[in-house]
Amino acid sequence: MLNFAIRVAKDAGRLLRDRVGTRIDIGHKGSINIVTDVDLASERLIREAISTYYPRHEILAEEGGLSESGSEYRWIVDPLDGTTNYAHGYPIFCVSIALECKGQIVLGVVYDPMRDELFAAEHGGGAALNNRPIRVSGTAELMQGLLSTGFPYDIKTSKLTNLDHWANFAMSAQALRRDGAAALDLCYVACGRFDGFWELNLSPWDTAAGTLIVTEAGGRVTNFTGGPFSNYELQVVASNGLIHDRMIEVLKMGKR
Ligand code: IPD
Ligand code: CA
Ligand code: CA
Repeated sequence: MLNFAIRVAKDAGRLLRDRVGTRIDIGHKGSINIVTDVDLASERLIREAISTYYPRHEILAEEGGLSESGSEYRWIVDPLDGTTNYAHGYPIFCVSIALECKGQIVLGVVYDPMRDELFAAEHGGGAALNNRPIRVSGTAELMQGLLSTGFPYDIKTSKLTNLDHWANFAMSAQALRRDGAAALDLCYVACGRFDGFWELNLSPWDTAAGTLIVTEAGGRVTNFTGGPFSNYELQVVASNGLIHDRMIEVLKMGKR
C-alpha cells in the first residue's frame, strides 16, 4: 500500500506541476481561504485511484470530505497543501496522503513536485526522503533553532491568531519561517531542515502523513500542552524532541 500511495502522490504532484503557469480558476471557501480547479482535479485523480484499487476503503479528503463505508481503513488526503502559494506561483506546495487503520496512521507520503522530493514513512519502519533514511536535527537549544508555523484562515475574525506565539518564538528561537504548506513544514522537521513546527486550527489532511514522518524520523509530536497528539484535534507541536519541552514552555506563555 505504501508503493500505491507513492505512485498516486507522484501522479497528483505531476498534475500540480504541469498546471503551474496555466490559467487557474479560483473560488473562495472563506474571505482568504481559496480553492482552485487544480485542488479539485488533484483530489479527483487521487479519489479515483483509491476507489479503483481499494473500493471498500474510506476516503477523507479536504475538498470532498468523508466518504464513509465502515471499513477499518481510511485514506486521509490533502490533494494540494499550500493552495495560497500555488495560486500566487510561489513554488512551495505538495500532495499529502496517509492511511489510517483502526484509528492509527500506518503510512504517510508527502510529495513536493517542484523539487521532486518524496517523503515517506511506514509505522515502525522509519522515514525516508527519496528512499534515503532521514532523521530529525540534533539542535539542542531553542535559541539555535529554526522554527516554522502557519496562521489560520480565520485570523481576521478569531481571537486565536497565533500572533502571540509568533512573537514569543521570535524572541526565543534563532529564526522563524512561514512557508504556507503544513505537510511540508512537518517533513522539513523530519529531515532536520526545521528544528520545530507548531500550528493551531489544522485539519487531519494537513497533519496525518507529516506527523507520522516526523515520529518515524525520531522526532516528537504533541498538542500544545505536551499531551498526546491526535489528527482530529486542532493543535500540533512537532520537533526534534530535544527542544520540545522548551517549545511547550513558550506556547504556555501565549494567550489561551
Ligand atoms: C493550509 C496550509 C498552511 C496552513 C493552513 C492550511 P491548504 O492548507 O497548510 O500552511 O497554515 O492552516 O490550511 O489550505 O493550502 O491545503
Ligand atoms: Ca492543507
Ligand atoms: Ca489543500
